[in-house]
Amino acid sequence: MQSLNSLRTYALTCRNCSLCETRTNVVFGSGNPSADLMFVGEAPGAQEDLTGQPFVGRSGRLLTSLIEGIGLTRDQVYISNVVKCRPPANRDPDPSEVEACAPIIASQIEHISPRVLVTLGNFATKLLLETKVGITKLRGSPVAYRGGVLIPVLHPAAVARRGAAGLVEARSDFEAIRVALLGNISVVQP
Ligand code: URA
Repeated sequence: MQSLNSLRTYALTCRNCSLCETRTNVVFGSGNPSADLMFVGEAPGAQEDLTGQPFVGRSGRLLTSLIEGIGLTRDQVYISNVVKCRPPANRDPDPSEVEACAPIIASQIEHISPRVLVTLGNFATKLLLETKVGITKLRGSPVAYRGGVLIPVLHPAAVARRGAAGLVEARSDFEAIRVALLGNISVVQP
């Protein structure tokens, strides 16, 4: 298996889908490469495209506060996305773009090998759990995944859209993450 750094080098010059024509920066991922906790979002937005860093815009500020709410910092976790380049005007990534990028996130997960993998929203959850079941049904429940656990949670953009109720749901999802990190949880088989 190539190193995480060579995977990054490969991703930074990737031209496997048409998003390479419109991106400013490839947003590979950031944080602790030996993290126990890894987050996978959907795709970069405008701020992420400009800076090359994941979750640094409005959704990112909410994600950061939820991470800090369970006693961790962004530096202690690893954060990435299913799709590494911004879809124009923040449209949903299309299936061919997800397919072109999927080997990169699969390899990142293999490298980081987190004890707790968190999917943020429908795109990451559906891809990694190979399911068509939506996030509102799956959120907050740990599933056995590659020797660890995967916990689907609401995407921060969805949390923001749902207002106060969204925040209550997100805090309860993050409590499930905190408990999973302590190691004493029961998981369902996927
Ligand atoms: N939304 C995502 O899914 N990822 C980002 O990096 C930013 C916003």
